[in-house]
Parts: sequence; structure tokens; C-alpha cells
Amino acid sequence: MPKPLSRTAFPIAAAACAALLLSGSITGAAAKMSKSDEEAEGLFASTCGFCHEDGGRSAGKGPVLAGTKRSDAFIKTRIKYGKEGAMPAFGDTFNDKQINGIIHYIRGLKKD
Ligand code: HEC
Repeated sequence: MPKPLSRTAFPIAAAACAALLLSGSITGAAAKMSKSDEEAEGLFASTCGFCHEDGGRSAGKGPVLAGTKRSDAFIKTRIKYGKEGAMPAFGDTFNDKQINGIIHYIRGLKKD
């Protein structure tokens, strides 16, 4: 009996499809957010971690960044232009989007 079968199968299939689409878009958005944080963490680890140790949580050659009271503008300027004799400039290394990502990463740090 193909007719009654398709009548019951269709709504089930449609509901399954909708559920798939829904969960797909939710996990897709979550993956996107954590991906940019992961990227910033990677940039930080490879570029800044040499001096700002433990991902910015402990002092090394540079100070602890976790819990900083500095403004976004201060941090951005510091990353772009550095500080003579202390910290190199990264204005040619990173674009604004990457710098904003790094600031977001620093804001998310918790001191040990
Ligand atoms: C060669 C070592 C070195 C590297 C690499 C480095 N820094 Fe620094 N950074 C320092 C030092 C030293 C200071 C302290 C400068 C001072 O005396 O104000 C500092 C200061 C800072 C400050 C200001 C902290 C404050 O509150 O005064 C921020 C923000 C910062 N660094 C972020 C970064 C980021 C982000 C990166 C990677 C893109 C990075 N640094 C790479 C050495 C470094």
C-alpha cells in the first residue's frame, strides 16, 4: 500500500529534515565563534607567548595580560606600534580583524 505509507512517512521525513537543518545551523554558528577565538589563541601563542607566558596568564619578558584594566584602544595601539626597547610592533603582521580577535582573546583570559 504505497499511499498510506507515504502519507505517514512524509511528515516524519520533513520533521527530520527540519531538525537536521536547525541543528546544522546552530552548530555551524557555534563552530564559527570558537574558530575565531581559536585562531586568536593560536596567533597569540605563536607571536606573543614568547614574552607573555602561559597564553598571557603569567609574566615573562612581558607583563601578565589576563585581567588587564587597559582599554581596547590602548591594547590595539600597543600591538600595532609596540614599545621601543620592550615590545615589537605588529602593525604589519596583523590586520585589524586579527588584532580585535587577539583583544577578545585577552579579555577572555582568567588569571591562574
Ligand atoms: C619580545 C617580547 C614581546 C612580545 C613578542 C610581545 N610583547 Fe607585549 N609587551 C612586552 C613588554 C616587555 C611589555 C611591557 C612594556 C612596558 O614597559 O610598558 C609588553 C606590554 C604589552 C601590553 C601592555 C600591557 C600593559 O598593561 O601595560 C600588551 C597589551 C601587550 N604587550 C600585548 C602583546 C601582544 C598581543 C603581543 C603579540 C601580538 C605581544 N604583546 C608580544 C613584550 C612583548
